Amino acid sequence: MKFLQILHLLGALGASARAAAESDDALSLDDLPYKNYFYSDCNVAAQAVVTSPLPDSNLSIIGPRLIVAWPAGNSGVCTFFAPQTGENGTLAIELINSTDAHPLSPVYNASSNGPPHVGIQGVLRFNSSAKLTVPILGSIRTIRDFVEGPSLLYPEIQDAVKFSSSGNGSVSLQRTWLDNTTMTTLTFQPWINSTSKNDGGVSLDNRTVAFEAGDYLFSATINYPELTPLKPAAVLNNASNNLATTMSGQTTALSFLSYSEKLLAGAWRFLTYFGRDSMIATLLLEPVLSYGEGSATEAVIGAVLERINRTDGTVCHEETIGDYATWTNEQENITSTAMGCDYKMVDSDYYLPVLMQRYFVENPIGQKRAAKFFNTTAGSVNPANKNLTWGDLALTNAERIMRLAGPFVKNQTKENLIHLHEDQIVGEWRDSTYGLGGGRIPYDVNTALVPAGLRSIGALSRAGILPGRKQWGSLADKYAKVWEDNTLDFFSVTIPQSKAKSLVTSFSKDHFAGPNQSSAIDTDVTFHAVALDGYNNLSKVEVMNTDDCFRHFLLNTTNDEQLTPFLNGSATNIRRTFPAGLMTDVGMIVANPAFGEDPVYAQNFTTGAYHGTVVWSWQLAMMARGLELQLGRCEVTSNFSVNSESVKRGHNSKAVMPTPEFCTDDSVYTNVRAAYNVLWDSIEKNEAQLSSEVWSWVYRNGSFQVTPLGVLPAPPGVGGQTGK
Ligand SMILES: *[C@@H]1O[C@H](CO)[C@@H](O)[C@H](O)[C@H]1NC(C)=O
Ligand SMILES: *[C@@H]1O[C@H](CO)[C@@H](O)[C@H](O)[C@H]1NC(C)=O
Ligand SMILES: *[C@@H]1O[C@H](CO)[C@@H](O)[C@H](O)[C@H]1NC(C)=O
Ligand SMILES: *[C@@H]1O[C@H](CO)[C@@H](O)[C@H](O)[C@H]1NC(C)=O
Ligand SMILES: *[C@@H]1O[C@H](CO)[C@@H](O)[C@H](O)[C@H]1NC(C)=O
Ligand SMILES: *[C@@H]1O[C@H](CO)[C@@H](O)[C@H](O)[C@H]1NC(C)=O
Ligand SMILES: *[C@@H]1O[C@H](CO)[C@@H](O)[C@H](O)[C@H]1NC(C)=O
Ligand SMILES: *[C@@H]1O[C@H](CO)[C@@H](O)[C@H](O)[C@H]1NC(C)=O
Ligand SMILES: *[C@@H]1O[C@H](CO)[C@@H](O)[C@H](O)[C@H]1NC(C)=O
Ligand SMILES: *[C@@H]1O[C@H](CO)[C@@H](O)[C@H](O)[C@H]1NC(C)=O
Ligand SMILES: *[C@@H]1O[C@H](CO)[C@@H](O)[C@H](O)[C@H]1NC(C)=O
Ligand SMILES: *[C@@H]1O[C@H](CO)[C@@H](O)[C@H](O)[C@H]1NC(C)=O
Repeated sequence: MKFLQILHLLGALGASARAAAESDDALSLDDLPYKNYFYSDCNVAAQAVVTSPLPDSNLSIIGPRLIVAWPAGNSGVCTFFAPQTGENGTLAIELINSTDAHPLSPVYNASSNGPPHVGIQGVLRFNSSAKLTVPILGSIRTIRDFVEGPSLLYPEIQDAVKFSSSGNGSVSLQRTWLDNTTMTTLTFQPWINSTSKNDGGVSLDNRTVAFEAGDYLFSATINYPELTPLKPAAVLNNASNNLATTMSGQTTALSFLSYSEKLLAGAWRFLTYFGRDSMIATLLLEPVLSYGEGSATEAVIGAVLERINRTDGTVCHEETIGDYATWTNEQENITSTAMGCDYKMVDSDYYLPVLMQRYFVENPIGQKRAAKFFNTTAGSVNPANKNLTWGDLALTNAERIMRLAGPFVKNQTKENLIHLHEDQIVGEWRDSTYGLGGGRIPYDVNTALVPAGLRSIGALSRAGILPGRKQWGSLADKYAKVWEDNTLDFFSVTIPQSKAKSLVTSFSKDHFAGPNQSSAIDTDVTFHAVALDGYNNLSKVEVMNTDDCFRHFLLNTTNDEQLTPFLNGSATNIRRTFPAGLMTDVGMIVANPAFGEDPVYAQNFTTGAYHGTVVWSWQLAMMARGLELQLGRCEVTSNFSVNSESVKRGHNSKAVMPTPEFCTDDSVYTNVRAAYNVLWDSIEKNEAQLSSEVWSWVYRNGSFQVTPLGVLPAPPGVGGQTGK
């Protein structure tokens, strides 16, 4: 019913997921002081980002910079520029249209041995004389280490950059990767064709490149194997192909991030595999995404299976590939270009069976594909998984989930809930320093992801997709029921009405410039803690949050005694305005610390924190879709119309389930519908933001006003808003 908007939101998830403070938006290219350009054809896909300080830019953070990024090998080039003589802030750079009126055009130089040198070229204009201060050639991760971290540069990588000038007046920088094979090349050459005068040229003195004011053709190439792009029409399923014309911006963005090997998490910093991101995107985009052999859906599931830890079944969170993989291996004294994986997340495992069930059990095309797909030999991307099939790896993951879920089924204690890994402060989507307030036991994983994963393992076993595990057909469902029914209570928080009123009043006095909304609190306030066992000896991290959306979206629980109040409380919190609830003029915020009595909550869950009182677009999508699914369960007793696409796709197989009790409870049903409508009104009102991953606000002139997260100060002790 709202799938178009969901695609819109997901243009979001794709295009700028994880782009955070420095958002990179394929739909509207300018996010000043950043300008983004994308180029993709059958030979090369690359992005260019040009940064030029604005009059009000903080010059210690923003300087003139050109980045070129390739999904292939997660590689890139980054160059910083400074004025030759003038003060910081006087040098401006921009990409101008070259003769064909496009800022970027492709470069393709065939090679007799190995992959061609491919990349992009464009014309860069300097308004005054400039010098190149720092060049980084190689991996995007090396560039991130420099721009996000404490300005780390590795001599082994920096010293390998070779500078040269040639007879035609050009200057080149070239670096051979640690694999001894791949080369990154960046060339500048005076652009004589432009209408503006070119004063001088580019010169090289030892390792210093200097430019006179004027226009320069730059060309950036690598000779690393490119990925296989999925064209816009190949990313969408047949029924949704019209979106390629009606929403061409969003589908182009999605296509730039879609390859038959994997879907990428976001430009430019995350132009590579991220497990959770691609699985959530696929679950939300399911109605429009392509399926079948060579489809986007299979690319995602295959990429996840390929990267599973064969020993313990953990899903890979982020991959390390290209030059950074060789570098990382070298740090371990291993000479190898093999990719690596980060397995620190505790949530990603559970999305996999859910996604596999949606496709291989419920989609008729997926059912037909299952045997062949799971027989795929692993190891072509991740050599650690050689000699296994994707089916073997899927089974290893399911075994892990059954193993981890078992103890709680036997004894429902807090100790038996899923914890973050001992040496980690992150483990699920709120993966920043203060994302969970130091909590060790996350709400989303325990109350929604584990039971949803178990339900799907049951369905997959019954469908014969987990060979030799027929017994899980009933066992996994039995486990799931225990997790569904017995986890919410651990996180439950109830605040009596009068206390809740006084909490929002005192919160507003110190931390919020708008109305305290205490009059909106006409009941006790109930919500579920975002995690257990937080910092400062807090047994529950009492931050109201949006993670109810995981249960709404992933589970059809049948325990009415629990479901009715759960949906009711969730709806009330969505409807109420911050600080009484989660709603604001700029959308639903993901965390509200106003009900936490301890002052640390308000100090750390701020408008400047990555997972603070800020709005995340995919959370809006999942909450809206989740409420829609729950309301859809009432269709027998109300005239709520179920989505016709999902009926066609065979998702109605659960229609025989009894109608939940909340459907006939007028006040609860009306409340949930009202929350759903309020949420959609707010999503529509904030359409301009939807292609960002996250945004924040300031309260000014009587309303919440959108502000990029990056311009607000981060909470104490956190370097950047991503908190990583
Ligand atoms: C000028 O820019 C350089 C980086 O190019 C930076 O290190 C320096 O702090 C800036 N100076 C001022 C005064 O902002
Ligand atoms: C480049 O060309 C496009 C399309 O023709 C035009 O919209 C844009 O204004 C031009 N940009 C510059 C900097 O000239
Ligand atoms: C690259 O060559 C150097 C020098 O010969 C060698 O030490 C290194 O192991 C090689 N690296 C790889 C990944 O083969
Ligand atoms: C320079 O401009 C002329 C005329 O606009 C065009 O024919 C020629 O191809 C251009 N040269 C380059 C290198 O783009
Ligand atoms: C060139 O620069 C390097 C480091 O930047 C320096 O060590 C070397 O002495 C310089 N060479 C000359 C000839 O100036
Ligand atoms: C895979 O899991 C095993 C068992 O937990 C662990 O020892 C190993 O380090 C993991 N592999 C990687 C690459 O992290
Ligand atoms: C790698 O080798 C160096 C030199 O032999 C040694 O100091 C270092 O501890 C080794 N690192 C690892 C991770 O084994
Ligand atoms: C699975 O793939 C192998 C080759 O990788 C093939 O020999 C075998 O017949 C396939 N099995 C099925 C059931 O398709
Ligand atoms: C795969 O099997 C081959 C041959 O049996 C063996 O040499 C190789 O070590 C195995 N690779 C892995 C990753 O187990
Ligand atoms: C469950 O765990 C608790 C705490 O560890 C323990 O006291 C209790 O005996 C256990 N119950 C069962 C049935 O194992
Ligand atoms: C919150 O911030 C304070 C400093 O203001 C810090 O000491 C504390 O550990 C933080 N607590 C949490 C729960 O993040
Ligand atoms: C829940 O039930 C609805 C139909 O009422 C169905 O569309 C949806 O797929 C079901 N979800 C799960 C996780 O079973």
